[in-house]
Amino acid sequence: MTEQDFLKEFNLERGMNISDAEFKLFRDLIYRHFGINLTEEKRSLLVRRLQQLLRKNRLSSFGEYYEYLKKHPSDENFTELVNRITTNYTFFNREPDHFTFFVERCLPEIRSRLSALGSRDLRVWCAASSTGEEPYMLVMLMMEFFKGEYPMWDAGLLATDLSRQALTTAMAGRYRAEQVELMPKSFLLNYFVKISEDLYEVNPRVKREVTYRRFNLINQAYPFRKPFDVIFCRNVMIYFDEQTKAQVADQLFNSLRPGGYLFIGHSETLTRINSRFHYVKPAVYRRP
Ligand SMILES: C[S@@+](CC[C@H](N)C(=O)[O-])C[C@H]1O[C@@H](n2cnc3c(N)ncnc32)[C@H](O)[C@@H]1O
Repeated sequence: MTEQDFLKEFNLERGMNISDAEFKLFRDLIYRHFGINLTEEKRSLLVRRLQQLLRKNRLSSFGEYYEYLKKHPSDENFTELVNRITTNYTFFNREPDHFTFFVERCLPEIRSRLSALGSRDLRVWCAASSTGEEPYMLVMLMMEFFKGEYPMWDAGLLATDLSRQALTTAMAGRYRAEQVELMPKSFLLNYFVKISEDLYEVNPRVKREVTYRRFNLINQAYPFRKPFDVIFCRNVMIYFDEQTKAQVADQLFNSLRPGGYLFIGHSETLTRINSRFHYVKPAVYRRP
């Protein structure tokens, strides 16, 4: 029996290997385009995630795939690559003390400030929104906070991510029962439509409040005309090196109005990069 027959018979696939030089090519490419820092420990992860893509495109090595990308540098090919390498892991009500702080501290402050100015323009940006759980949660909290007054506020939310695949899932707003199980029961009743025993869909009036766009945080220029009151940028800077993190933190700072809040993931910190932000509490910062 040949090796190939053996693998076929036992339903095994021969793992593809990546050489040091190929790994370096991909590491540099991914860093240049997406700011994602693939350390040596991520090598096997890269191989696992790209293997299928190589097979699909009938390429026999990572070197060939690199050449293919160089020859066909279309948005579609890069999107396919980034969809494979980003980790979209997220869930409803993740790191809930942030949501408590948002409702108990940020929203009352913003309401007083805007009311004093005679404005109703509340601006919130979810900057790595993944498959939608975080931005929908924020809209639901704003609706709970403002109650019947909500429609009088211009309180929609901008949600951006690098991965088109994640954005497509987010826009569909459909989640399995186990994905919504950490939601308070009243939220399930008020803000979701139960499609079947195992499937829930975010209510259209919540969906309407979120504008999804593809946006790469490592872009040099951020295109926002007006500053934000609050930015959630959680669990994404963990993939960036210190230099990229500093550059992104600087751009987020410039995108906030003075007094605006930035939330990052609890396993992340801005202290090492000497940003202009003031520390408020773990993973919460403020533009002075
Ligand atoms: C682990 S998820 C975090 C989702 C959510 N913020 C949370 O905390 O649960 C990280 C997200 O960051 C996105 N991402 C990675 N690099 C990015 C970049 N350069 N610009 C924008 N989004 C990026 C990924 O596509 C992914 O959806």
